[in-house]
Amino acid sequence: MDIKEIRKNARDKMKGFCRVCPVCNGVACAGEVPGMGGSLTGAAFKNNVEDLAKVKLRLKTIHDAKEPDMRCRFFQEQIDFPVMVAPITGSQYNMGGALTEKEYVDSVIKGSISSGTMAMIGDAAVLSMYEDGIQSLKEANGKGISIIKPRENSHIIENIRKAEGVGAIAVGVDIDGAGLVTMALKGQPVGPKTVEELKELVNSTKLPFILKGIMTPEEAELAVEIGAKAIVVSNHGGRVLDSTESTAKALWKISKVVKGKITIFVDSGIRSGVDVFKMLALGADGVLVGRPVIIGAFGGYEEGVSKVLNDMKNQLYQAMILTGSKDLKSIDSTKISIEWK
Ligand SMILES: Cc1cc2nc3c(=O)[nH]c(=O)nc-3n(C[C@H](O)[C@H](O)[C@H](O)COP(=O)(O)O)c2cc1C
Repeated sequence: MDIKEIRKNARDKMKGFCRVCPVCNGVACAGEVPGMGGSLTGAAFKNNVEDLAKVKLRLKTIHDAKEPDMRCRFFQEQIDFPVMVAPITGSQYNMGGALTEKEYVDSVIKGSISSGTMAMIGDAAVLSMYEDGIQSLKEANGKGISIIKPRENSHIIENIRKAEGVGAIAVGVDIDGAGLVTMALKGQPVGPKTVEELKELVNSTKLPFILKGIMTPEEAELAVEIGAKAIVVSNHGGRVLDSTESTAKALWKISKVVKGKITIFVDSGIRSGVDVFKMLALGADGVLVGRPVIIGAFGGYEEGVSKVLNDMKNQLYQAMILTGSKDLKSIDSTKISIEWK
């Protein structure tokens, strides 16, 4: 299955929810949340893509980086390249429901493993969605990560136990889901957390703990203080708060403060292996990808996800050759120029 066919299938299956635009930049779908868009004006989603486009690679060809090494290790797990699948839920109300929740999560878990990486599962107002993710993880011998909504701590800890029970690699909370009205409307209150509340969560498990949705250096430092093993610099793909800064800009500031003290992941607006390279050069240790993988899953289930991820892997490899980067640690800010710096 080639990428054209995958995109055509996805366009048919997601009619009314995603147009599968030539460039997935948040323009056509502004305000479509629930759906695939960014919240209100869509500015946060658009900023993510626009700011990343203003980072340019410095092409170099006189060097010895002939066979770049893209392998990396996160939480004791080695993966072939530093790209994982972001936690996504709501096939029915966000994507049109052509795939059941279980079919979606199976596609991303299996597709990520077959391309040499792993996926995260998400949590939502409909409680069965988290269970679907846990079941998929179980079937994959736990190879994946569970990200739970910022519910009451007792409920989060219950969900952490389920992830531990299936052998998940790590757990975390998408703390930027704190204002999700959709959750409150369905009787599933979420909210911000104090440092003490977060420490209770970190100390409730032996698994590495991830805070997803960190957008400022101050909160990145708090994540280090509470003992989180990783953060995801994320604005939820522009879905939770209109007009936030892009994750590329936030990452650039955050990495200056906490690089080396905590694992830094980033997501939002990453569309190619070249974008992955840019995020690594801005200071990330690894990235997550959301919407392109959704299109892969709807267009071709596991095979579609695998194709999208493998394309990114190949593009990153090419970018490393053409910038003289023989391994991931040699991808740094000397390899890029930044128009907004
Ligand atoms: C349809 C949709 C559903 C999502 N559901 C969740 C979720 O359940 N939990 C979560 O932490 N993030 C969720 N996210 C956010 C993603 O994990 C990720 O941060 C975002 O998609 C990254 O941006 P990108 O799609 O531009 O790559 C969702 C995003 C989309 C588009």
